[in-house]
This record gives sequence, C-alpha cells and structure tokens, in this order.
Amino acid sequence: MVVADASDAQNMETSIATIVSSLSTLPGPLTILINNVGGQPRSISSRALLSISEQTHDHTSALLTLNAEFPAQMTRALLPILTSDSNTPACIINMSSIASQIGFPYTAIYGASKAFNLLWSVALSREMKMQKKAVEVLALIVGEVCDTSFSREQKGTWMKPTAKVFVESALNKIGCGRLSVVPWWGHGVLIAVSLHSWSQCGAREDVTRSNVASHTNLTCVIDFHKPARMVANNCHETADTASAKR
Ligand SMILES: NC(=O)c1ccc[n+]([C@@H]2O[C@H](COP(=O)([O-])OP(=O)(O)OC[C@H]3O[C@@H](n4cnc5c(N)ncnc54)[C@H](OP(=O)(O)O)[C@@H]3O)[C@@H](O)[C@H]2O)c1
Repeated sequence: MVVADASDAQNMETSIATIVSSLSTLPGPLTILINNVGGQPRSISSRALLSISEQTHDHTSALLTLNAEFPAQMTRALLPILTSDSNTPACIINMSSIASQIGFPYTAIYGASKAFNLLWSVALSREMKMQKKAVEVLALIVGEVCDTSFSREQKGTWMKPTAKVFVESALNKIGCGRLSVVPWWGHGVLIAVSLHSWSQCGAREDVTRSNVASHTNLTCVIDFHKPARMVANNCHETADTASAKR
C-alpha cells in the first residue's frame, strides 16, 4: 500500500511515481482506475464555506491540487499501463459533482475544480475512442451522499442516498455508453431544480451564507415547498427593480 497526500502539490510527482512503480509488481493487469479522491483538503480544519477572498494561498492551492490536478496527473501517469493490452478492456471513473454544474456561492474553487474534472474526463473519453483504445472513461456527477465525509447521516433519502445505494447505481452505469452521467436520479432532480432556481438570478436573496452553512448540502437550500413560479417571480422582481432604478 502506498500512502500519499493528494493535496500536496510539492510532492505529487514523487508520490505518483511511487504509486506507478508499486503497481508494476501486481500479478495481473491494471484494468480499473477510480479517481475517487476529492473534497476538502485534510489540512483545512472545517468544511467552512469561504469566499475566494477569505481563502489563503495554501487553501486554494490544496483544493485545486486535491480535486483537479491529482486525478489528472494520476490518470496521465497510469494511462500507459491501462492501455498496454489492447485485448484487455479497462475503465477510468472520475468523480465530478453537482457543484460543477451550478456555480454555488462560497464553493467557487471546489465547483470549478469539479468542472475541470468533468471536462478533461469527457475529452479523454473521446480521445480513447478516436485512438480505438479499449478504455471506457466515465465522469460521475455526484450530489450529496450519506455516511461520507460530506455527511455523517446514516439514513438515505431520495436527495441523499446512502453510500451503498449510490455506489450500486454508479457501478450500474459502467458500460452505458455515455461520457458523463448523473448516477443517482435524485441528484438529477436537484441539478434541474438548482439550475432553475440559481440560473435566473445573480444571487438568491432568500439564501445567506449562514443558512447555506446550516444545511449539510448546498442543494438542499432549495425550498421545495416554494412553487417554482415564486422563485421565478423573485428574479423578475429583482430585474424589475433594477430597471426601475435605471
Ligand atoms: N460525499 C459526497 O456527498 C460527495 C458529493 C459530491 C461529490 N463527491 C465527490 O466524491 C468523491 C468521494 O467523496 P467522499 O465524500 O467519499 O470523500 P472522502 O470520504 O473524504 O474521501 C474519499 C477517499 O479519498 C481519500 N482522501 C481524502 N483526502 C485525501 C488526501 N488529501 N490524500 C489522499 N487521500 C485522500 C480518503 O482517504 P481516507 O479514507 O484515508 O480519509 C478516502 O479514501 C470526492 O471526489 C468528492 O469530491 C462527494
């Protein structure tokens, strides 16, 4: 087993080289790479929602390294092994997030790093197809999952499945032919509602940082009891107010 800190940019090259060389001692071929690592760097004590201006240089750097650079570099380094035998199909799974789709406030760097993850994964998938390599590359767009570092809750709901339920639905998507997928249907609903609710407004007046932070999941700040029309009306009011000011 190789232990490495994926948020440590300085030692990344050495860590990845050690991982690659340790894999060469395995008896069989390497056929699956799951780039699961991500989230908040361990060097950061809380999962506090911070604006970019409140982050330190090291915080921003560790977030980008952990969520974007490490999975990309790991894949680059392992690709020659994964593609070495054209008769043995291989699979690379990359973890993106709902945060890559919306532009949630106070998670700008995390969301952007997950958008990076999604895009290079989709591009790599196309490269593999064009080069006729037997490697499936699939990006998973993930919302909150119970019993993980994001949420210690044990009981799953449609918005937040348990890790077991989520993993089952994710593994079922391998071979589906898509380049990216939202494996859990409830997360798909949340993306649709979030896009509707956030995309029409620069900001949501009903959501402050304190009530964002009081929820375990940013997407849960959507008030499902508030009709979509009301959300849209709020935005129109904002636009009307702006035009009235002009
Ligand atoms: N959970 C969610 O609700 C959620 C939502 C959207 C997207 N995602 C994405 O899904 C993936 C998995 O999330 P998760 O909540 O299951 O994550 P996690 O429990 O925090 O960590 C997943 C794995 O990554 C390892 N890891 C974490 N930080 C590391 C570091 N600095 N260096 C090396 N290894 C490290 C952990 O190792 P240890 O076991 O040793 O800590 C663990 O094996 C992440 O990419 C995350 O961004 C998760």
